[in-house]
Formats: sequence, structure tokens, C-alpha cells
Amino acid sequence: MRQEHQHYHADLQALDDRCLNPSQAADLNSIINRSRRQVLKGGLALAAIGLFGTSLLGCQRSSAPAASPLLGFSGVAAQTAADFDRVLVAEGYRAQPFFSWGDAVLDNAPTWREDASQDWQAQLLQAGDNHDGMHFFPFEQAPNDHGLLVINHEYINPTLHTDGFRYTDLADGRRQRPVDQVRKEQAAHGVSVLEIRRSADGQWQRVAGSRYHRRISAMTPMAISGPLRGDPRMRTASDPTGTRVLGTLNNCSMGVTPWGTYLTCEENFHNYFVNRNAADHATRPTHQRYGIGNGQRSAYYAWESVDERFDATPDDNQPHQGQVNEPHRFGWVVEIDPFDPDSMPIKRTAMGRLSRECAVVSLGEDGRMAIYSGDDARGEYVWKFVPDGRHDPANPANPAASRQLLDSGTLYAARFNEDGSGQWLPLIWGEQGLTPANGFADQQAVLLNARGAADLLGATPMDRPEWVAVHPDSREVYITLTNNRERGERFPLHPANPRPNNQHGQIVRWREANADPAATTFEWDVFLLAGDQPGALDAEGQPLPDNLIGNIRGDIFSSPDGLAFDGAGRLWIQTDSDEEAAHTVNTGCNQLLCADPQSREVRRFLVGPRGAEITGITWTPDYRTLWVNIQHPKLSYPASDGHSRPRSTTLVITHEDGRVIGS
Ligand code: FEO
Ligand code: CA
Ligand code: CA
Ligand code: CA
Repeated sequence: MRQEHQHYHADLQALDDRCLNPSQAADLNSIINRSRRQVLKGGLALAAIGLFGTSLLGCQRSSAPAASPLLGFSGVAAQTAADFDRVLVAEGYRAQPFFSWGDAVLDNAPTWREDASQDWQAQLLQAGDNHDGMHFFPFEQAPNDHGLLVINHEYINPTLHTDGFRYTDLADGRRQRPVDQVRKEQAAHGVSVLEIRRSADGQWQRVAGSRYHRRISAMTPMAISGPLRGDPRMRTASDPTGTRVLGTLNNCSMGVTPWGTYLTCEENFHNYFVNRNAADHATRPTHQRYGIGNGQRSAYYAWESVDERFDATPDDNQPHQGQVNEPHRFGWVVEIDPFDPDSMPIKRTAMGRLSRECAVVSLGEDGRMAIYSGDDARGEYVWKFVPDGRHDPANPANPAASRQLLDSGTLYAARFNEDGSGQWLPLIWGEQGLTPANGFADQQAVLLNARGAADLLGATPMDRPEWVAVHPDSREVYITLTNNRERGERFPLHPANPRPNNQHGQIVRWREANADPAATTFEWDVFLLAGDQPGALDAEGQPLPDNLIGNIRGDIFSSPDGLAFDGAGRLWIQTDSDEEAAHTVNTGCNQLLCADPQSREVRRFLVGPRGAEITGITWTPDYRTLWVNIQHPKLSYPASDGHSRPRSTTLVITHEDGRVIGS
């Protein structure tokens, strides 16, 4: 047996963001925070969720209070020490660990054990690993004190097990996994739904006995809906109907619908599959173009060694060629109704198949919508889906009535022209080369290989598109492009992706024509280039090369990823940079920052412990309680039990005087 702890995140990131693109070419917050009319059932007795009482107050200032009227706090200093293992937050604020991997979700969950010895059945009742995108859905009766917190669990860390990931190397180059570990890993994926409430003393707590608590995992049955429901290309030996799939994987960011459902997004699903038939893999773009593993090697997690569903090698002796189509059943937006714990999650195939980072809704006055997504790999595209139907504001809280909106519409990829204009390129079968001669037999083929279709249309390869945020008033759209070390080599420089060997990333924004979410043209500009200030020095005191210099007005950072607006139009930026890399010598540990879209001033609000990514962001409707996630901390950052092995953790952040966060 071999254990793998070292370099785990670096290895995984190399798989996650690798280049597979062969081509060279109304205040929604107020709407989505509108409480769904719900009759509360079940007990309301409160149980502490392990609120470890460490107060993590900021003390080191980076800068004076802002000139911007939006930024009413003093920034905290960047943290570059190799042993930094705390959270620093702006003065006057308090950040508390609220919900860590292993904490109870279901009421019958056993208490988490620090030695990580619990089995997969326990894990199915507890918080999953690697908290990522999340949203607070308020209850109407007390929207700022009571609601459902829905949290993605993106993937898993070696710390999930007492002795890390165990692999046995086999003679043919394959790797065997223990079934108990694989089951626990599958159980640690997915989504948690938690009913939470603020008690009289101001502490947020999990509600004991709630009917809403729910764990969705890589084993949970889900419906397939939209154009690919029942399609032959969705049928497998284990699901001959092509209508049911077990589980959701690599749930990264998310979105929220105007009718109060949660859209969880399946990002790096390719890491879970292998197609050992090299010739088949090379000629199957729905595998090859999406990075499904091939050859005799095992998939990254080698789940296929104990669960045949993840072996996507075609098998002509089995119905539907075995599990060759199983990777077609991931890469989708999955709709979850958190207010109906008995509802089956639904994979929405009309929105296309991507390494789907997010699904962020923009809603026009006339009820038309855009749902924006990034596809996070080097040189991939920016996307939007425009439903055929319109949202009915008179009926905002009816998921059943709104359900069909996500099943038919037009999928577009973005072309950013060098002159600052842009076009949305529709992926419509039979048009612009999306024809059988080019491998697209029908619209379903276009949706399954949306990347390949966008290659043909001439969409613009971007520097790893991650989260999208829509300004609450102007509906301007912002996107993080986290980095792309192959820019300038595989991918030509472009004004929206202007730096060679782009290590720090940028934020780009666009304005749809007439602020119409359904528009087919837009104007764009670069909001900022992340990285060091001009004149900055490296660790040896030498001037930095030009590609590491950004144009941030204020506090520096690297590799923007999470992105969201609050109701006042503050732009919150979360980072996912590699602190071991030389280019982060000055930006340091990952951070949460706040920007003024008008003045472009940027201020650092929070710094996380070394090794962690800061991701996931949501508020109460009054924006006085903020939740953010500390994902995969390397050091023993205090979790909800106050000590122990490192655990991904949701923080709850409030101001000591109850101010609106950031004001
Ligand atoms: Fe899961 Fe692109 O980050
Ligand atoms: Ca991300
Ligand atoms: Ca990540
Ligand atoms: Ca990232």
C-alpha cells in the first residue's frame, strides 16, 4: 500500500486546468433572497453546531479606510509566512468557524472523530469535504435570522482518511483502491442543506430536528432532464433508460434561480473516469475534448477499480457498451430544491456540458434571463444560456411551474473582439458548421460536446473562466479569469487575456446591449489585472518580470476565483492561488477582497490560513451576516472543534456593532 499526501493539490490542479482546447482562435440578489413562502415543520429546538468560540479579529492594516464610499473598512495586510495558520479579518469584524467537514448534517450523524476513522455511512450523515459555492435561502418570517444554508462539497482530501488515500500499484500500471475508502470519498462529495437559525445571543446554530437537513452525494439518484433525457448517448449498462444517474461530482460554484432553487455545477468530472481504449478515446470527442483519462493508467482517484460505473472503456459485450456513456452524465447544471427535501435533483442538459464552474442568473425587467457559466480550463470559453421562456415575477416561488424554463433555450459561447465589442455565438445544430460532416449529428451532440462546437464557431479561448457576478443595478457582468500559464504559447495574446505566462489572472466585465440578458452583442473591458504593483521586487530583491505586474488600485492579490456582488454593489473577490509558487511571494495567502466597481479600488477584507483557497460566499438579505469557506487548509487551522486535523470550514462573519459587512 502506498500513501499519497504530498503535492496533492498541485497534482490535482495540473489535471484540472490542463489545456484540452485544440483551437487557437433588476437586482437579482433581492429577488433570489426573497423568501420562499414556507410552512415550518419539525422541531425548532436549537443545537450548537460546534461553534468554537475563537474570535479571529484582524489587527494588521494594509491601508487606511477607503476613499470609496462603498469600502468602509480598513484593509488587512497580506500574509506571506510559511506557517500562517489563522484567519485575519478587518478590524471590528469577527470570523468564527461554523461548519466543518464531518460536522452533523442529519440528526442521526455520529460525532466527528479526529482520527478520521469513521466509515462511509457516517460520512453520508455529516458535512462533506472541500466546501465551495454556497447560498443562504432565507425563510420569509425571519429572513435575517433563519434560513437554509446550502453548501457544495467539491472534492476530497487525503485527510478524509486516517492514513490518506491508499492505492495498490498493480503490474499493468493500474491502481487498486480499497472499497471502504472509495465509498467514503463518494459520500464526502455533493451538497449539504442545513437549516440554521440565529439565537437570541446572536449565535448562528444548526436547527436540531429539522426536516430540511439533507446530504446529497455521489450516490444520490438524480433525474436527467432536457434534450438528452433518455438519449441513447446517455444510456449505460447500469441505467438503460438514460434518465437516472447516481450522484453529482466536483460541485464547484453555483447559482440561484429567481424561483428559489439552487443550481450546483459539476466542474472537473473528468478526473473520475478512464477510457482504457486509446483508439476509441482519441476518436470520441465527448471523452477526448473533456480530458477523460485514457490508456492503461487509472483515473486520478481510481474509483473504477471498485466501481465499474467509472470505467468508461467501451464494452461491446454489455448493453449500451457498458459505461462508455457514464461521463456524458456529468458536467451539467444540477437543480436542487432545498425547500423540498424529498425532491430529486435534476440535471439540466439544455445548458450544455462543460467543466462547469458556475451558473449565475441575470434577470431582465421583462422576465427574460441569462445564466452565465465559466468553463475552468486553460483556453476554454465563457458561456450563457438564455431560456426560451420568461420568468413570471407574479409567481416567483414555484419551482414546479418554472421547471421547464431550464429545459429549452439557446446556449451561447462568447467571442471577445479585440476592439471591445463582443458577440454571443449560438450553438444551434445545422448552423455555422455544426453539422454531421463535422461530427454533430443533432442538437444533442452539440450539447454533449459544447466545447468542440464552440471551437468551430470561433469563441474566444480565455484564461480559465471561473465565477461570474452580475451587478445588482446595472446588470454589468464580471468574470474571474484565474490564470493561464500557456497564454502566449498555446493561446495567442488577446486584449481580454493580455499577459503571456499569465500567473495572476484578471477580471473582465461586459455590458449586454441594452442591459438585456438575452442580447447577442456586448461591450467589454478589463476591470483589473491581478498581481504585483509596478516596481515590486521578488524574494531576492530583484525586479519582477512584466507578466507578474498587475494594475490593481489598492491591495494586491493573485488568481481571482470566487466573485459576487452584495446588494449595495460591492464586488467581493476570492482567490485561489498557489502560495508555494514564486509568483505569490508578495500576494501571500489566499484572500477575500472587496472592490468598488466605479473607482476600481480594491481592499483586502480577510486572509485565510496557508494552503487554503477562499471560496463560496453568501449573506443574509440584510448583508449583516456573511459566510465564506476555507477550502483545504494545509495546516491545522481551527475548525469547528477548535483543534484537530485541517478541515475545510465555513466561517460566519459579523461586525461587532452589527454593521452591513464591508460598509
Ligand atoms: Fe473548482 Fe475552477 O474551481
Ligand atoms: Ca473555483
Ligand atoms: Ca480549487
Ligand atoms: Ca480555482
